[in-house]
Amino acid sequence: MLRFATIGSGWITDEYIHGAKDSGLWELSAVYSRDRARGEAYAQKHGAKLVFTDIEGLAACKEVDAVYIASPNAAHYSQCKALLQAGKHVICEKPLCAQAQKVRELVTLAEEKNLVFLEAIMFMHLPQRAVLEEALQKIGQLSLAKIDFCQRSSKLDSFLEGQVPNIFNPQLETGSLMDLGVYCVYPALHLFGKPESFTADAIKLNTGADGNGIITMKYPDKLVTLTYSKLGQAGANTDFQGNEGTVYVESISRLANISLWHKDGSTEKIYGEDEKYKLMGWEAKDFHRYITEPEKSREEYAHCKELSIWVAEFLEEARRHLGIRFESDGGA
Ligand SMILES: NC(=O)c1ccc[n+]([C@@H]2O[C@H](COP(=O)([O-])OP(=O)(O)OC[C@H]3O[C@@H](n4cnc5c(N)ncnc54)[C@H](OP(=O)(O)O)[C@@H]3O)[C@@H](O)[C@H]2O)c1
Repeated sequence: MLRFATIGSGWITDEYIHGAKDSGLWELSAVYSRDRARGEAYAQKHGAKLVFTDIEGLAACKEVDAVYIASPNAAHYSQCKALLQAGKHVICEKPLCAQAQKVRELVTLAEEKNLVFLEAIMFMHLPQRAVLEEALQKIGQLSLAKIDFCQRSSKLDSFLEGQVPNIFNPQLETGSLMDLGVYCVYPALHLFGKPESFTADAIKLNTGADGNGIITMKYPDKLVTLTYSKLGQAGANTDFQGNEGTVYVESISRLANISLWHKDGSTEKIYGEDEKYKLMGWEAKDFHRYITEPEKSREEYAHCKELSIWVAEFLEEARRHLGIRFESDGGA
């Protein structure tokens, strides 16, 4: 078994720990929190032996092989860098970094150190992605894809009451594009490659963060729209339209409830849904496999790295179009 540590004490870390332990491949040896008491409570909750309140201490720990990072986006780069430099494998939550150059730098650093550095994006690691891709082969010429992730934020009410939750705080490099748009960008770039061009619009909040957005990607033979929002809940979800049929996906991030509509009017359900921790367990399994079976997983892991760079480049360019600026962008 490999030993892992966590950074971040939110619900998503709970799910990752559950999924990683459930895989039978990982043992939780340490947790990091900025606050000692919170760290100790979190370690107790999940049965971890060690607690760190400084990244350097965690990085130097001999009882940790790999680290799962689920801190606010603005902390990702420095935490990933410190851990990779110290010889830890790293799986870091999406989106990796606000600037593509930082993602390239971290990918190179990991390669130099012979470590695995992975973006925690479920879509790339779910077995049902093969179900989706097989269904897309059955719908003829695809001309329009509408990829959607609109989910009313659980923090919206506190925002409307005048607070600035982390998720609407540009100082933490968050907002709708970075939080939910990334889930739409990933399948678009994985399935269709880079677009010829794109247009983008967003509604900005008084904090400077984007509350929602619409991006239209243009390919020679198809249009791909990405709709994402933290201000309202979606009803229509994702569909891929071909001239022989349509593939519907209720949740693009979890690849849940996939159906195939045939041109004779019939509809076939081809995939249901899984619990969140199971979904995260798949990325924990792949992370383990890339570390322990590098030869067998070389091509797959290389694709993940390339896609992480493409996604970071796309998000950065989209932010430029939308006027979403972070302090780390520098300049005027
Ligand atoms: N894969 C998914 O489905 C999924 C779902 C949700 C979020 N995410 C990703 O996970 C990451 C964390 O998201 P989240 O919503 O959990 O974030 P969050 O609640 O704002 O913060 C996560 C943790 O980071 C620490 N933290 C809070 N504020 C911080 C600050 N200003 N500076 C440094 N550390 C701080 C806290 O832990 P301590 O106080 O213990 O240090 C907190 O528990 C993001 O990258 C997000 O995109 C992924």
